[in-house]
Amino acid sequence: MVDQKIADALNEQIGHEFYSQHLYLAMAAYFDLMELKGFGHWMRIQAAEEAGHAMKVFEFLLDLDAEVRLNGVKPVPAKWKDTVHVFEDALAHEQKVTEFINGIYELALKESHAAAVFLQWFVTEQVEEEATARELLHKAMIAQESKAGLLFLDSELAKRK
Ligand code: FEO
Repeated sequence: MVDQKIADALNEQIGHEFYSQHLYLAMAAYFDLMELKGFGHWMRIQAAEEAGHAMKVFEFLLDLDAEVRLNGVKPVPAKWKDTVHVFEDALAHEQKVTEFINGIYELALKESHAAAVFLQWFVTEQVEEEATARELLHKAMIAQESKAGLLFLDSELAKRK
């Protein structure tokens, strides 16, 4: 049986990942309403990835024969001042998720080798998530200086698969 503290932390992480999904969906809606459909597309894919992260933890808990608890998602913002502020929030959010993952990982190192190995994927993933958010924040800052730049970035983001 898995350590209860680990099971609790992993259940909380499911909540964080579904919160991420909702946050990126809200960003997708915001961009669509601004007719920045490429940004909206990128955010939809990001949201789907976050749901995938939640499901990874969900399946892992069940494999450990541990209870899964879904406690709902608190409301996410719906509006931002501009594109730059969206990516500032995305980066700050990913940094917070990294802290959560690092916290569970440290606990897992003491309490559960299986959970520690499982969480290594998330530790690496968070490096990528932060790097992507940082890159898009910088690009959004550059694009803010010209409408043509913003539309070019929009068409680039529309290509995400
Ligand atoms: Fe699930 Fe964006 O990390």
